[in-house]
Amino acid sequence: MKDIIVLGIESSCDETSVAVVKNGREVLSNVIDSQIKIHEQFGGVVPEIASRNHIEAISRVAQKALEEAGVDFEDIDVIAPTYGPGLVGALLVGVSYARGLAFALNKPLVGVNHLEGHIAANYITHQDLQPPFLCMLTSGGNTQIVYVKDYCDMEVLGKTRDDAIGEAFDKVARVIGLGYPGGPKVDKLAQEGKPTIDFPKTHFENLDFSFSGIKTAVINLHNKNPEINKADLCMSFEKAVTEVLVENIEEAVKQTGINKVVLAGGVSANTHIRSEFEKLEQKGIKIYKPDLKLCGDNAAMIGAAGYYRFLNGDLSENTLNAVPNLKIGE
Ligand code: KG4
Repeated sequence: MKDIIVLGIESSCDETSVAVVKNGREVLSNVIDSQIKIHEQFGGVVPEIASRNHIEAISRVAQKALEEAGVDFEDIDVIAPTYGPGLVGALLVGVSYARGLAFALNKPLVGVNHLEGHIAANYITHQDLQPPFLCMLTSGGNTQIVYVKDYCDMEVLGKTRDDAIGEAFDKVARVIGLGYPGGPKVDKLAQEGKPTIDFPKTHFENLDFSFSGIKTAVINLHNKNPEINKADLCMSFEKAVTEVLVENIEEAVKQTGINKVVLAGGVSANTHIRSEFEKLEQKGIKIYKPDLKLCGDNAAMIGAAGYYRFLNGDLSENTLNAVPNLKIGE
């Protein structure tokens, strides 16, 4: 079969990224231009500033991605931008750029769900990985267990009823003075701490999650006792949220009979979460973790997901629009 070269484009939040991906699994380039330094001073992403910076960066990032891959626009077979979920103004930059390219080059356009992209990061890391499997998707905006029946056939089995896990990490970090982005900072500090505090965990009868109770308990404890050991606080918080993830995924394995579990999303870079999931291998559950550099937002994962959508015949019209609340399965 002829090689298929996908140009993945990602601009859903604060990373402008363009990647060239061959046959969904081989990354020829993956250029990521992060705006973290710009948003750091505001303690979080400012949507309007994010959009402006995407506009400034996108052509330059795309040119660099082509150069690093050693290809020209003419060599690209498919243009695949993230069209949701994310910040509407930020998404529109990538979508509009992709629409312009697809029109000018007369190439197919394939809109990609950002969450499917996170899952597809694992196809790059694990060349042998194929559906069906369960995915524990943990990111800044989402926390869900996805039953990946096939490359383009997915069902959400459980999701958070309040905060996404990444939001809880970021909020805890902000309140205890670690700054933005919080997840990696909590992760680092927790490695010096012990899980000395028991935080209350919420359980539901189905596979849903809740993180706001744990988050509020951490914040209240810190506010009442600002001298508390922050490393222990971070470790205890991580232990509580990880236990919730692990309990639910074990239940999902039991209910579906699928014993292949894939981690995905920004929070899957977390050291404690990765090591606790690895322990499930002792219970006969095969665990797949994305390469650390593919956990956060990047266009290679979008190119990988776009490849499978293209093979599935899911072409987008040149009227493709941003869908800020796009869900899996839509
Ligand atoms: O997947 P992602 O890059 O963006 C979304 O698509 O949402 O996830 C970003 C989230 C942020 O909340 C960030 O704090 C968190 O991932 N994060 C981490 C770690 N690295 C990033 N959380 C915990 N531990 C980490 N090492």
